[in-house]
Amino acid sequence: MIIDSLDAPAPGSSLLPTPAGDVYTDPEIFRLEQQNIFETMWNCVLRVDSLASAGEWKTVTVGREEIIVVRTRKAGIQAYYNVCRHRGMRVCTTSEGKNKTLQCGYHAWTYALEGDLVAAPNLTSMPDVDRQEYGLKPVQVREWLGYIWVCLADEPPSFEDTVLGEVRTRFGEVQSIDNYGIENLKLGESKTYEVEANWKLIIENFMECYHCATIHPELTEVIPEFADGLASQRKNGEIHGASFGSDIEGFTVDGSSGVTALPAIAPSQDRKYYAITVKPQVFINTVPDHVIIHRMFPQSESRTTVICDWLFLPEVVEQGMDISKSVELFHRVNQQDFEACELTQPSMSSKAYNRGGALVPSEHHIEEFHQWWNETMGYQRAGATESPMTTSGGSVTTDQ
Ligand code: FES
Ligand SMILES: [Fe+2]
Repeated sequence: MIIDSLDAPAPGSSLLPTPAGDVYTDPEIFRLEQQNIFETMWNCVLRVDSLASAGEWKTVTVGREEIIVVRTRKAGIQAYYNVCRHRGMRVCTTSEGKNKTLQCGYHAWTYALEGDLVAAPNLTSMPDVDRQEYGLKPVQVREWLGYIWVCLADEPPSFEDTVLGEVRTRFGEVQSIDNYGIENLKLGESKTYEVEANWKLIIENFMECYHCATIHPELTEVIPEFADGLASQRKNGEIHGASFGSDIEGFTVDGSSGVTALPAIAPSQDRKYYAITVKPQVFINTVPDHVIIHRMFPQSESRTTVICDWLFLPEVVEQGMDISKSVELFHRVNQQDFEACELTQPSMSSKAYNRGGALVPSEHHIEEFHQWWNETMGYQRAGATESPMTTSGGSVTTDQ
């Protein structure tokens, strides 16, 4: 259901229940999320241009695993578990580097950038050792939108269905995300936020705009309709583009004009803001002259690292055009959102929230996310354990 006006009474119950607080605090639930969500689905981990030449590598954490992502000489970008096949030491012990081979610092087993074991002390006297079999264990890699996506599952879900499908369906045929040419944009600015909140609180916050009038004064100045509490992303059907105010020139902190517009956007995408969530850890925001992409890396049940990138046309970045007012707008939005999430997290373990809270009509679409969570965690399969999202959070109550 799409709620188009907050003035019209919503059919049915106005308030829907949220999950109980322990869904956001229980370490065992977080462990299952790592296993069933982050170690199973596609994760957007790095910008492709952050590994510019052969031999450059970075390590990233996906679920409970550390992964080496490297630009090889012969096979493009590849990714491996950062686990030596000899006796398990971390092969790469810093966060980035550039090497001709990847050598473990314990007994010097040495791997080609393409993963095979190529050298080890006395390896020639062990001719039976299969160098591929004892190569670094690979993980699946895709490149899309200028980002490197990895999946740890032995049989990954279809990238087309789970990532492209989600984005294209939500952007629709006409208002296609392709118009923004995101893969050709350049990084103008990147900021990392260490957020003391569960990753699901951050997604739920991003999905609704009921809070916009309260905590986002600059954003609601630029997009007045956000003050009505309606989010840019909707349930069922195409995404809703939120319009700039009539006196607003650009998506900047003071509404002044931005930089060079992306050349291929459709007229319907002009002066509009779109936002989508690519579950489980990416937000894509588009405006006519830049694109903002968030990547989330959950660290624990109560801590999440969020990296936010601001992407512009290459000439904007190369010519050093002033992007500071564009960056400042969403940086403030991020700070305001993350502060709200951090002030929510401690209450998740309160007795007053042990049966959860409530979703108002303009937040009802967040239930879709909760349903997805239940399905992905395996709580809706035959014979499955009852979901902690429904056992104690099954009804909205006002008395505790
Ligand atoms: S553990 Fe890596 S070489 Fe021995
Ligand atoms: Fe917000």
